[in-house]
Amino acid sequence: MPTLPVVTDGAFIHQFELGPWDNFQYLIGDAGSRECAVVDPAWDLATIEREAARIDVKIAAVLCTHSHFDHVDQVEALLKNHDVPVYMLRQEIDFSGFRCENLRPASPGDTVAIGKVAIDLLHTPGHTPGSVCYRVQGSVVTGDTLFVDGCGRCDFVGGDPETMYATLKRLTEELPGDTVMYPGHNYGQTPTASLDAQLQSNPYLRAPTVADFIKHRMDGKTPGTALPPKPDWTPGK
Ligand SMILES: [Fe+2]
Repeated sequence: MPTLPVVTDGAFIHQFELGPWDNFQYLIGDAGSRECAVVDPAWDLATIEREAARIDVKIAAVLCTHSHFDHVDQVEALLKNHDVPVYMLRQEIDFSGFRCENLRPASPGDTVAIGKVAIDLLHTPGHTPGSVCYRVQGSVVTGDTLFVDGCGRCDFVGGDPETMYATLKRLTEELPGDTVMYPGHNYGQTPTASLDAQLQSNPYLRAPTVADFIKHRMDGKTPGTALPPKPDWTPGK
């Protein structure tokens, strides 16, 4: 049986990149029972299922960090093969109109159990109103809230740079500095980083004031921009 990438106390996080926009996909769960949640299933279900089979884990839930299609466009397809609950923050469902079978509207502070591993939902608005990060012990899957040396855009519909500034401040103040962040896109020099390291190198976390943050984050951007249409993309090409 393949060895799982255990982070702490029997929890594992398997990260792989998929799609034309450098999205990271995650299988996170209980290394003992080999149950997992798929975080943000997008672009190509066959690849996601192949990864789950390769590391020999069973899909038990779907966790959505937010509603953008490059994070959720394979949810429907996945549900045809796996009758599992789909978690998204209620605020994000209301904002986006996202619907699917088995949808479980969640609240900030909720915990989802995958086997014996507890996954906490942290409400982190700014990229979208109902964005969440999923905390698994000493790790946090950050979606489009925080990237290695970057952060999510705040000019798309529902984005708000002032809110994002407050979210990032709260995240970095409330989580221990050795927390390892697992971002929603592979935009940095490394696929993961500790919050302490990010506080040193991430320009968005180093903005001295909210005004500086907004100026940098919104430079050249127009508030209320529509998300680009889904590009044509075929796996392996
Ligand atoms: Fe997004």
